[in-house]
Amino acid sequence: MKLKYFSHSAFQVTTNSGKIILIDPFLDGNPTSPVKSNEVKADYIILTHAHGDHIGDAFNIAKRCDPLFIAVNELANYCASKGFKAHNMHIGGGYNFEFGRVKFTIAHHGSMTPDGTYAGEPSGVILSIDGKNFYHTGDTGLFYDMKLIGEMTPIDCMCMPIGDNFTMGINDAVKAVELVNPKLAIPMHYNTFPVIAADPLEFKKKVEQIGKKARVLNFGEEIEL
Ligand code: NI
Ligand code: MN
Repeated sequence: MKLKYFSHSAFQVTTNSGKIILIDPFLDGNPTSPVKSNEVKADYIILTHAHGDHIGDAFNIAKRCDPLFIAVNELANYCASKGFKAHNMHIGGGYNFEFGRVKFTIAHHGSMTPDGTYAGEPSGVILSIDGKNFYHTGDTGLFYDMKLIGEMTPIDCMCMPIGDNFTMGINDAVKAVELVNPKLAIPMHYNTFPVIAADPLEFKKKVEQIGKKARVLNFGEEIEL
């Protein structure tokens, strides 16, 4: 699988068979995104929670690409209420899609849509695709159960917020890496707005100090996992 980082919490996963999965596609209103919503494609859109910087341009993209939304029950229902295809899941549950497995995890945060609709619990998500396990924590504070998440699913690549204020900051994110023990850690949710300014190279250095590997992706960079 290939992993492309659009900045903030927005990622594109491309499977070896060519399926495209977008996670939290916040592009047009995102000053750091190198692409606009009319430039991306999606077969699936996974939303970790309903905040505007995560739902982002999902519905615009969906009008053009007709993807299947995958989210926790309440948020999936909201997507369906807008006329889109949705697969309802919930925290702790996994499901085998034709591209691979999706499992939702807890996240300590909030989740309400920009129009004020309750959207259930916020979540993180583990994608198991082409033999690799990718953990996108969503927006969250640090929690000790991350240790359990890493024990149940050996994580190849983990991305977690470092921008502080709404989520973990750098020091808590380094602790999250220690708890999950992924092969590679990628920082996200930073420098989009002044209030979440953070130095990803400081995060990388601190992760390396605990003997783990981190990589800072440029906005728009794609890597093979
Ligand atoms: Ni949020
Ligand atoms: Mn956010």
